[in-house]
Amino acid sequence: MRAIGYSVETAIADLIDNSISASASKIHVEYDASQDPFVAILDNGKGMSPDELTNAMRLGSSNPNAQRAHHDLGRFGLGLKTASMSQCRRVTVLSKQNGSTYARCWDLDYLQSLTEGKWVVLVPDLAELKQLPLYENLNLVESGTLVIWQSLDRMMSGSSSPQEEMKARMAGLLHHLGFVFHRYSQKEVHSEPIEIYVNGVKVMPMDPFLKANSFRQPLEGQEIRVRDAVISVKPYVLPPVSHLSPEEIEKAGGRSGLRGSQGFYIYRNRRLVIWGTWFRLVPKDEFFKLTRVQVDIPNSLDDLWALDIKKSAAYPPDIVRNRLKDLIPHFVSSSRKTVTYPGRKEKIGKFVPLWQRTEPRHGVFRYEINSEHPAIVKLSEKLDKDVQKYLQAVLDLLTGSLPLEAIYADMCSDHRQPDDEALVQDLIDLATNLIQITGLDPSSALNIDPLARYPQHHIRILAELSE
Ligand SMILES: Nc1ncnc2c1ncn2[C@@H]1O[C@H](COP(=O)(O)OP(=O)(O)OP(=O)(O)O)[C@@H](O)[C@H]1O
Ligand SMILES: [Mg+2]
Repeated sequence: MRAIGYSVETAIADLIDNSISASASKIHVEYDASQDPFVAILDNGKGMSPDELTNAMRLGSSNPNAQRAHHDLGRFGLGLKTASMSQCRRVTVLSKQNGSTYARCWDLDYLQSLTEGKWVVLVPDLAELKQLPLYENLNLVESGTLVIWQSLDRMMSGSSSPQEEMKARMAGLLHHLGFVFHRYSQKEVHSEPIEIYVNGVKVMPMDPFLKANSFRQPLEGQEIRVRDAVISVKPYVLPPVSHLSPEEIEKAGGRSGLRGSQGFYIYRNRRLVIWGTWFRLVPKDEFFKLTRVQVDIPNSLDDLWALDIKKSAAYPPDIVRNRLKDLIPHFVSSSRKTVTYPGRKEKIGKFVPLWQRTEPRHGVFRYEINSEHPAIVKLSEKLDKDVQKYLQAVLDLLTGSLPLEAIYADMCSDHRQPDDEALVQDLIDLATNLIQITGLDPSSALNIDPLARYPQHHIRILAELSE
């Protein structure tokens, strides 16, 4: 049972699920390894009565097939126990309700010392409780629950320095909690944000959909009806990499990079359970790297989704998979355009590219310099016939030596443009030259490659040009 496969992060997240289900608005995770290493999770939720607390300590404290309240994040009646014991040998749960505090404790060393092989839960006395970390903090809340892990054998396994080990294990915690609970820690319709703190540091929402960036494109969504429940599917194309700040790339890409994190994001009651996968319906592709599809499922469909105990794996049932498969062609073309012509949302009509994609033979593609581009046309007109031949030869050289593989490798690692100010200065220089060469007016010049790719800087460029 201890080897279900939780990481420290997923185990802590499982306890936070319980706090959220108990309507907590503030959750504190505290840990320390300087003396007796411990991890504690305190919430201000509704707490438990003594009977509820005793029952909560049972393995399988509730029937997984029972219907749950619609906001409940639990299912199996196991998480509190399995998550805790995946990390520690001693878990104490204190809960405060109606002014009184109750406590129960599972201690694996004690269980092992019992000769008759019984499962005996301990009821610690007040003197013991007072020694526990965060006990005073539980006293301060009206009602709530405090879970404390001690004897962290699994969590600290094989470490010579507990403090270093604890630090290393917790390094990704803020990110993980910010990510899986981002819909709870940011404001959403019909819900107030929940505050989560790790050793006093507030967990910031890590929204992989970059809701705050106005360049992201929502695409047409769908509602899939299954039994009497609704699964909502909302695809988005993120802004092109050139429009993203390093923080946004971190949010949207996380550990696996933008390309690795394309795909469906499955939220069970707004809690992110699975992300960055197409469920093998389509392969991951550089062209879809900006596409993310938010799928909201209610907890009443758990049986269909084959949810696991850690709630970190679930596979869509056939009826949903087929619908998702039908939807994919609708949003891939928009993603392709955003990757290929960043910033050109839909209207590629009057855009004059400098590089053109051609397919001389089926399956073979190359990028050629567009000889219709106004700058090339002007230059060509200024040259004598025989020099024009040289120009064409140079253009062919450029086409033939374009380092496609190297560019592809760079783009896959989400390399960004230079910082915004340097980029704008470059664009202004480019615009000045382009206007000089072609004689175009400034606003027509903005429709030309590469200026057309940066609509977010057009106002600024025009202002500088008119000066
Ligand atoms: N922080 C908490 N506040 C109030 N009640 C809690 C809290 N943690 C656990 N409980 C109670 O204990 C029960 C058992 O929790 P546990 O996590 O083991 O199972 P679950 O949440 O019901 O299902 P799952 O195994 O899917 O997590 C919960 O159903 C809930 O009633
Ligand atoms: Mg639970």
